[in-house]
Amino acid sequence: MSAIYPGSFDPITNGHIDIARRGAAIMGRLIVAVLDNPHKTPLFTVQERVDLLRKIFLEDSNIEVEAFSGLLVDYAKKKNIRAIIRGLRGSDDLAKEMPYGIWNRQLSAGEVETIYLTATPALAHISGSIVKEVATYDVMAIASMVPSVVLSALKDKLR
Ligand code: PNS
Repeated sequence: MSAIYPGSFDPITNGHIDIARRGAAIMGRLIVAVLDNPHKTPLFTVQERVDLLRKIFLEDSNIEVEAFSGLLVDYAKKKNIRAIIRGLRGSDDLAKEMPYGIWNRQLSAGEVETIYLTATPALAHISGSIVKEVATYDVMAIASMVPSVVLSALKDKLR
């Protein structure tokens, strides 16, 4: 079975990578889908994020990386995929994710289900937005939270 793991991934963190690999292991094949959101100004362009993710998952034969825009359910339909994977770090994520899951089920007339994986506790405090904020002041402070390619990219971007 195939699943989509969607997100902004601006930037991808070790928490996202853990969810992607665990998701791919139970689903068989996973597409990590980077949202191209015209309403947000990201730190990394969509192409930069896709390139970083492709480097990170280069040796994961069951993980592909793509960009998508528009509604997630339309992208899922286009790919003929019925499962979405999302990670839950705690109750804030659950509160945010519940309506997304319900919306995506409704928008797809029950065709697309969301499967939630709980975060690995040691990674549950990592968020892309905090990583970006801390990196602005001290890029080395986030070295254990992102893969080395992302650390280098952050160093270049924030120079
Ligand atoms: O990493 P994020 O920013 O928490 O990911 C949010 C994402 C990309 C999963 C969500 O914003 C999304 O699916 N956007 C696509 C537009 C859409 O389908 N919206 C309606 C249902 S949530």
